[in-house]
Amino acid sequence: MNLTIICASYTGTTYGIAEQIRNACGGEIIEIQSKDLLSRFVAFMARHSPGMNVRDTGSQPDNIDLSESDLVVIGTPVWGGKPVPAIRKALVALTGCRGKRAVIFATCGEKAGTTLQVLEKDLAAKGMIITGQFSLSKKEIEDGTLVAALIAKVQEEADKA
Ligand SMILES: Cc1cc2nc3c(=O)[nH]c(=O)nc-3n(C[C@H](O)[C@H](O)[C@H](O)COP(=O)(O)O)c2cc1C
Repeated sequence: MNLTIICASYTGTTYGIAEQIRNACGGEIIEIQSKDLLSRFVAFMARHSPGMNVRDTGSQPDNIDLSESDLVVIGTPVWGGKPVPAIRKALVALTGCRGKRAVIFATCGEKAGTTLQVLEKDLAAKGMIITGQFSLSKKEIEDGTLVAALIAKVQEEADKA
């Protein structure tokens, strides 16, 4: 079973969930970095905010070939009720993804807004099939129950491959 986990993460929350999924289910994490204006502005602001650590890892692939993947997990932070620009850019770069199953998740402070709906629409346009979606607020991440449910869903989908 080939699991591909695609995520963007500026302060590590989304990446931390991606790591938990990989540790439990295996697979490979592709971290997307963005250099668009909004992302650079947020990174700049965050770098000057005490206690906020901005990740400086990841890449901006022109093409993410999913033809060898059985299952795809996509995670994004929520910015202004939407997925971050980096992840939407990454979705444009997906190839070999038609008919592939995907579990999507968003991490947010409190409310995910339309993040999951936007991701679902982008992925449906690529011919992908969403089999699970989770929005995780800061409180829910601390509690852990919903994170465990996300991991269980990914494992369940992985077992079908
Ligand atoms: C520019 C910006 C916009 C945000 N907008 C929202 C929002 O609309 N709703 C929300 O609940 N949290 C919002 N947040 C909080 C993040 O979604 C949350 O902290 C997320 O888990 C960060 O993920 P990361 O650590 O992987 O970058 C925002 C954070 C930033 C920096």
